[in-house]
Amino acid sequence: RVVPVILSGGSGTRLWPMSRPECPKQLLALTADETMLQLTVRRTQDAAHFDAPIVVANAHHADQVEAQLGAVGASAQALVLEPAGRNTAPAIALAALAAGGGPAPLLVMPSDHVITDVAAFHRAIEAALPLVNDGWLVTFGITPDAPETGYGWIAQGQAIVPGVHRVERFVEKPPRDRAEAMLAAGGHYWNGGIFLFRADMFLGALAVHAPDMLAACRQAMDRAARVGSRIMPDTEAFAACPADSIDYAVMEKADRVAVVPVSMGWSDVGSWDALHLLSECDGAGNAHRGTVLSIDSTNCLVRSDGPRIALVGVEDLIVVASGDDVLIVPRGRSQDVKKLIEAMKG
Ligand code: GDD
Ligand code: MG
Repeated sequence: RVVPVILSGGSGTRLWPMSRPECPKQLLALTADETMLQLTVRRTQDAAHFDAPIVVANAHHADQVEAQLGAVGASAQALVLEPAGRNTAPAIALAALAAGGGPAPLLVMPSDHVITDVAAFHRAIEAALPLVNDGWLVTFGITPDAPETGYGWIAQGQAIVPGVHRVERFVEKPPRDRAEAMLAAGGHYWNGGIFLFRADMFLGALAVHAPDMLAACRQAMDRAARVGSRIMPDTEAFAACPADSIDYAVMEKADRVAVVPVSMGWSDVGSWDALHLLSECDGAGNAHRGTVLSIDSTNCLVRSDGPRIALVGVEDLIVVASGDDVLIVPRGRSQDVKKLIEAMKG
């Protein structure tokens, strides 16, 4: 059976003001009544094919994560609680070690994506498994429709078996001109951020490409405190771990990497604009949640978890109120919320 590994340590800053350090994107119900984390857990809640998940999260969110899993009838086989984020490569290393470091196939999933066609996702996993057992590191390829610079890009090589191709090249977050060239060239996919590989194969790749990271994670796990299913890696050892994403640390460098193209209604809900596109809209293109009153307004996304928001005669606006904060941004500019966060820090 496949072991789901759910990464729940990101901060999701582009969805401010709803997404905040104490309650980041994956712990919010943005696209449905369930939170992004709950939707992720439920995607592999099938005991015939999947084990209980290993969840890797920030230690501050331990209670919230457990409560959210419990509310959908799930529980983690291990809840690995990071004292501080070191990005995805160390998080996955901790999970691979928690899984025993052997040949168990790990399905690594971000906790903040939407997949509308879960059956297609499951078929892609089935297609990948024989190669995974053979030692390949597998990614899932999404057909690109824009020169996105926030994703990893995969150049597809020879087919290994029908439906699974060797990865010719993996380019994480390319500059705009390079993304445009790959889009125009065809034969490229976006990296969906979901990976399937044996725990031992991932740790082996780390041993080659990021040995310091592996050593720090091993030490952190050797000295971890354990309470029930909770695993607290040693703070000092983990603090010494270099921070890097799996994409830069492993996928760009490893050689036995394969891609399974999959069409599964994938979206990474990376911004308020992305959420607007995913939302069910009224006849005028509006998607509202919370107490919202709107007259003669079109193509607006309005969300409030408190104050009433009233719109008259506006178009193409995103308005989000949460706690004491209100965000107003025209449609198409919500990527820049990231800049706001930086400005507020500075
Ligand atoms: N446990 C833990 N610890 N989880 C983390 C950490 C960490 O330090 N950092 C990030 N995560 C989680 C996030 O919550 C998210 O679910 C997932 O790991 C991916 O991290 P992101 O920070 O969202 O990555 P990204 O969006 O920049 O890029 C990745 O995803 C893209 C698709 O959405 C890459 O894999 C790209 O190649 C890919 O295209
Ligand atoms: Mg992301």
